[in-house]
Amino acid sequence: MKTVSVIGAGTMGAGIAQVFSQIGYHVHLIDYKQENIDRALQKINANLSKLTTKKVYTEEQKEAMLKCIQPSLIYNDLLAKSSLIIECISEDIEKKKKLFKDINSHLSQDVIVATNTSSIPISGLASLLDHPERFIGMHFMNPVPVMKLVEVIRGKDTSEKTIATIVAIVEELNKAAVLVNDSPGFVANRLLFALINEAVYILQEKVASAEDIDRIMKLGMSHPMGPLQLADYIGLDVCLSILEIMYENLHQEKFKPCALLTKLVESGKLGMKNGNGFYQWNGMQIVAANY
Ligand code: 3HC
Repeated sequence: MKTVSVIGAGTMGAGIAQVFSQIGYHVHLIDYKQENIDRALQKINANLSKLTTKKVYTEEQKEAMLKCIQPSLIYNDLLAKSSLIIECISEDIEKKKKLFKDINSHLSQDVIVATNTSSIPISGLASLLDHPERFIGMHFMNPVPVMKLVEVIRGKDTSEKTIATIVAIVEELNKAAVLVNDSPGFVANRLLFALINEAVYILQEKVASAEDIDRIMKLGMSHPMGPLQLADYIGLDVCLSILEIMYENLHQEKFKPCALLTKLVESGKLGMKNGNGFYQWNGMQIVAANY
């Protein structure tokens, strides 16, 4: 059985662990906080139960998938048994650097190390490992079980063999790999965050309400969610970190986080995850807040 280690059991780590379990991988789901692991396992269980109710899987298949996921608070021994490691910790360059330095001595000979960073250029991270040719970006989209895209990022030293292996794994996951070169925010977030930041400026300038800005993009451009609802869905703290990294690295004013976004994060409004952002999320009911 092929083995993947997913480091970081947040929203993305949970989704990635789930989709690998669905294609029969043994999954090490690693996080230093038990509560993150518990939340991730609950979410995976709920998602797979839903698919069982819809008769996509039998109860036995669901149980087998859940059994494939081995949670752990430490990674030392587990990493050496993995053919692929996917880092999904928070979008903080110093934390990521520390992690890659720490794991370097625990890696097996042929392992590929992938980062799910959404904005940090990957070549600098790759240089912390003995084998940067086996380092790559796998940028999954949220919600991972639903979204088709994996943006695959080629670092300065990533080998063709590593790229071919990862593209084949993405296809095994029944997703589409789009290969791009290394650059802050890559392609997906360079486009998306120019839009989200501009939507926040439009709201700040009181050109339109949050609901109307979103309605314009939903009804006019067929986006499934408007940019402000999507920002709440991603997490406003995550949006702010991504914009800060892109502004710092690309030096373009359009990525300078809008003051309103910073203000919301500083006042503890993080979006859907804590019920408050551009909208007030009350279960399934979302109500635009007044800014
Ligand atoms: N996990 C698993 N499945 C989920 C899910 C989740 N978190 N959320 C929704 N789904 C499934 C539902 O079960 C449902 O499945 P079904 O069609 O088989 O019944 C299907 O997705 C549709 O869900 P809903 O009917 O509840 O609601 P919607 O039709 O409104 O879809 C959505 C929800 C898929 C989230 C849709 O609104 C959407 O596509 N939104 C945009 C998402 C997006 O843009 N993601 C990218 C974010 S950017 C990113 O990830 C990059 C990062 O670096 C910031």
